[in-house]
Amino acid sequence: MSTLEIKDLQVAVEDKEILRGISLTVKAGETHAIMGPNGSGKSTLAYAVAGHPKYTVTGGSVTLDGEDVLSMSVDERARAGVFLAMQYPVEVPGVSVANFLRSAATQIRGEAPKLLPWNRELKAAMAELQMDPAFSGRSVNEGFSGGEKKRHEILQLELLKPKIAILDETDSGLDVDALKVVSEGVNRVRAGGETGTLLITHYTRILRYIEPDFVHVLVDGKVVEEGGPELAQVLEDGGYERFRPAAATS
Ligand SMILES: Nc1ncnc2c1ncn2[C@@H]1O[C@H](COP(=O)(O)OP(=O)(O)OP(=O)(O)O)[C@@H](O)[C@H]1O
Ligand SMILES: [Mg+2]
Repeated sequence: MSTLEIKDLQVAVEDKEILRGISLTVKAGETHAIMGPNGSGKSTLAYAVAGHPKYTVTGGSVTLDGEDVLSMSVDERARAGVFLAMQYPVEVPGVSVANFLRSAATQIRGEAPKLLPWNRELKAAMAELQMDPAFSGRSVNEGFSGGEKKRHEILQLELLKPKIAILDETDSGLDVDALKVVSEGVNRVRAGGETGTLLITHYTRILRYIEPDFVHVLVDGKVVEEGGPELAQVLEDGGYERFRPAAATS
């Protein structure tokens, strides 16, 4: 059973302090929703844990099963079991989806998956996500629609079965049917019990399909409220206004 422990994490981008002391513990099998207005630092949290070089950790700690995540390179973090589905997935021209996924699986499993069973696994996972098999031959994310990019992220998630999955606005840009398919993928991984999930979102829409165990509200780089799934509904009804500094509302 894996545990990601974020303690008093402080992160700056280009000398600007963005995260001002975030503490969060995510255990395997748990789903934590991180909600908050635009610019509150949600993606910054995701990138800092995944190891994006632009985000400088100025204080606090992040450990995965007691191992110091912050001292690891991006690749080491991925191998240790940290997975990030980015808000804006990047294109990798010239690298096919099939090759990309197989080399990612090789890194994480420690050996190249045998070709025939791997192809079967890939095909099955794509079918469950209702992805056209022709996608496996296309360059990663190149020319993918918004929804296709998000499905590809969940395809990675399902094949790599990380210890910690950080899903940054995986719901954005999805139509109702795609949202359902993608949510079912996340729920399959969750049901495996080996993955802890940090689900970053603005909206409660996705939380109707993926019920979080905990909801954390991030405003201005700090967690201002925490609760169970009922908190998401409170936010849906009342917005984030009540968390903003009084000066901003006058
Ligand atoms: N690479 C960067 N360079 C400069 N500023 C940045 C960078 N990344 C983040 N910031 C700033 O940090 C703050 C938090 O951004 P972040 O992307 O973490 O917010 P967010 O909560 O994910 O917002 P959204 O809901 O719009 O995705 C913003 O003010 C943003 O401009
Ligand atoms: Mg963001």
